[in-house]
Amino acid sequence: MTAPPPFLMMTLNLHDDTLTQRLNELHDRLLETVPVVDRIACALYDEKDDVLKTFINSTRAGEAITAYEYKLSDSALSALAASGEFRVLDDIEHALQSDTVHNTWLREQGYRSSFTVPFYDGGSLAGFVFFDSMQAAAFSPQVQRDLVLYTNLISMAIANELSAVRSVLEATRVARELAEVRDFETGAHLERMARYSRVIARAVAPRYGRDDEFVECVYLFASLHDIGKIGIPDKVLLKPGRLDPTERAIMETHVDKGIQIIDRIVGTGAQQRLPDSAILRNIVHCHHEYLDGSGYPRQLRQDAIPLEARIVTVADIFDALTAIRPYKPVWSPTNALAELDRMVQAGKLDADCVQALHDHLDQIMAIHERYADTDAVS
Ligand SMILES: [Fe+2]
Ligand SMILES: [Fe+2]
Repeated sequence: MTAPPPFLMMTLNLHDDTLTQRLNELHDRLLETVPVVDRIACALYDEKDDVLKTFINSTRAGEAITAYEYKLSDSALSALAASGEFRVLDDIEHALQSDTVHNTWLREQGYRSSFTVPFYDGGSLAGFVFFDSMQAAAFSPQVQRDLVLYTNLISMAIANELSAVRSVLEATRVARELAEVRDFETGAHLERMARYSRVIARAVAPRYGRDDEFVECVYLFASLHDIGKIGIPDKVLLKPGRLDPTERAIMETHVDKGIQIIDRIVGTGAQQRLPDSAILRNIVHCHHEYLDGSGYPRQLRQDAIPLEARIVTVADIFDALTAIRPYKPVWSPTNALAELDRMVQAGKLDADCVQALHDHLDQIMAIHERYADTDAVS
C-alpha cells in the first residue's frame, strides 16, 4: 500500500464526527487489509507535566483502558520519543516484565504482540499510536509499513483537530488578553478551574458513557467559560461591591455575548472542522445554570444542562470560593466543599461532580497549591 485509498481520505474529512468515531472507521478499513489488529489507541503527550495520557481508542477485542496517565520519563517509551523509532513486541508476555498498570493490563487482555509509533507535531512529541494484536508476532515488516501509513493518517487527523482547537484558544487568548488588561480574572484562576474541571470530568465520564476525548475537550475549553465578559463595560465588570439589579442584568449578558464570540471564531474558515465545538458552546452557554432551574440565562433544569457545563460550574464555584479576592474572605477547601455540599442539597449542583472533588481531594489540593495566586487582584 503506497497511498491512502480515497475512502480513507473521506474518512478523515468527515468533520461532523468525533476523533473517536473517525478512528473506529479507520480501524474498520484497516481490518480489511490487516485483520490482525485488535486495538488501536492513541495517547497524547502533555509536555508541561511530562505526562502521557490516554486519548482515543478503537478496541475490537479486550476492554479499553481509559482515564490513565503516566510520566513519560518513567516509561520505556521515552527512548522511542527521543529517537523517533518504532517498537515491535512480538511476545508481550516475555517482553514486558515490569508491572506497570499498562503492562499488567496488556497481559490481562490477552494481547500477544504490539507495535508502537511515536508521532510529532511541529518537531515536538505529540503522542503515540499503539496497535495491539491477540496474535503473537502479528507485526511483520510488511504490516509495519502499512501501519506507519495509518499512523500518519491518524496523527494528521489529530493534528488537524488540535490545531483547530489551538486556533480557537489562540483567538480567544488574544481577546482575553485585551480583557485581562482590565483585570477581571487572573490567569491562575483559569488554569486552576480548567484543571479542577479535568479531575471532575475524568471521575464522572465513565458513568455517563463519555470517553477520554470528552475529558480533554472539557479541560481545553473550560477556561473559556467567561469569554463573554470581554463585552461587559468596565463600570459593571470592575465595580467593587454588590451590583444593583440593572448592573446584574448587564453582567448576566456575558453568557450570550460569549456565545456570539464563540460563533464568530468557530463558525468561520478552518475552525469549522472542530467537531467537539458543541462542548465549548455548552460550557459557555450553561455555566450559570442550576439543576433546579434557578440559574441563568435560560433557567434550564436537570438533564437539560449538559454534563460539561455541570462540571465547569462546580469547578468555577469551588475556585471562586477558595481563591484570594479583595471583596470576599478566602474559604478553605474544606469549607468550600461543605458549601458545595449545601448547594447539592438545595438541588442546584450536580452531586456526582461535587463528589468527584471529595474523592480526589489530593489532586485538587495539589492544583490549588501549584497554581496559587501570586497576588490579590482587583
Ligand atoms: Fe460566567
Ligand atoms: Fe470563572
